[in-house]
Amino acid sequence: MKALILSGGKGTRLRPITYTGAKQLVPVANKPILWYGIESIVAAGITDIGIIISPETGEEVKNLTGKGDRFGAKITYILQSQPLGLAHAVKVAKDFLGEDPFVMYLGDNLIADSLDSFLEDFNNKHLDALILLREVPNPTAFGVAKVDEKERVLQLVEKPKIPPSNLALVGVYFFSHTIHDAISQIKPSARGELEITDAIDFLIDEKKPVEARKLQNWWLDTGKKDDLLEANRIILDTRLEGAIEGELDSSSQATGRVQIGKNSKIINSTIRGPVIIGENCHIENSFIGPYSSIDDEVTLIDTDIEHSVILEGAKVLEIQQRIVDSVIGQRAQLKVAPQRPKALRFLIGDDSQIELV
Ligand code: DAU
Repeated sequence: MKALILSGGKGTRLRPITYTGAKQLVPVANKPILWYGIESIVAAGITDIGIIISPETGEEVKNLTGKGDRFGAKITYILQSQPLGLAHAVKVAKDFLGEDPFVMYLGDNLIADSLDSFLEDFNNKHLDALILLREVPNPTAFGVAKVDEKERVLQLVEKPKIPPSNLALVGVYFFSHTIHDAISQIKPSARGELEITDAIDFLIDEKKPVEARKLQNWWLDTGKKDDLLEANRIILDTRLEGAIEGELDSSSQATGRVQIGKNSKIINSTIRGPVIIGENCHIENSFIGPYSSIDDEVTLIDTDIEHSVILEGAKVLEIQQRIVDSVIGQRAQLKVAPQRPKALRFLIGDDSQIELV
């Protein structure tokens, strides 16, 4: 059994955060989203992993993630020259996959369920495809499945205008080698992509066994700001183990589950967990409230923040109001203007959002 993780494509939905990087590398609780998928695959006993990368962000994914040693896996990178669809990505990975069955995992998805029981069903029932589903309030934004009472899949449609059910395809699929033949038979869709849903529909038409399972726990597709904050909240809630390696001075306090990385200094501040703070941060005269992730090299002075994600190297200085529900990008700076006249001064990147009161 092999795994194929899709970490190519274009990160249009989390702009501007993904202008400068891969959307799969955006951190959730200070760890790239992609790494949660790798860990979940390795936990299911699959260690031969191919990762699809794009020419734009591939080097970054490769440099950060490495050859797999840190996960106990062997990672092979496969370049997809253009994002021509999920089935196209499988086609590009054909040499790596050979005739082996494999799990395909979309690199910007996070699921809480372990893969073990799904993998067991896929193997024991000799299925050609097993897909994972979750009920959603807005099925038109996803691939949607129609399933019978025996969990057999009857039909799949990608982002339908009139959805046949409210069961969305979660970005995790199990396939036998028959998917390659199915992919060779399909044509690009109206949006110009080779759709994996069309390839699975082909298997269904050929009367191959295709089943679905519903996830029991949460699933997050971290494409948008609110999804990212929600993923961050859930991971901090369920997986953070407090550990303080940095320094808290005697006038600072940390309550609840708080993780503080090496060489970070907390001066005259209150941290109320769950909160994760990376390495080499400087936090002074500040309050950091629950569900905040502060990445490495961040400076916060006279700042009051909660339920927010601050990326590497950002600085927030002397903002007099509480900051909530915010994502602050790498090296971004928020500070009070030193010069008169009293006025707001901005240097804001494309697609940024700022809400003032
Ligand atoms: O999140 C679940 C949804 O993911 C499913 O319900 C849909 O059926 C499925 O098509 C997919 O929809 P998205 O609109 O979220 O797909 P996106 O273009 O964001 O691509 C998903 C991942 O695959 C992302 O990490 C980028 C990567 N990718 C995508 C394409 C189109 C590639 O590596 N190569 C590609 O050609």
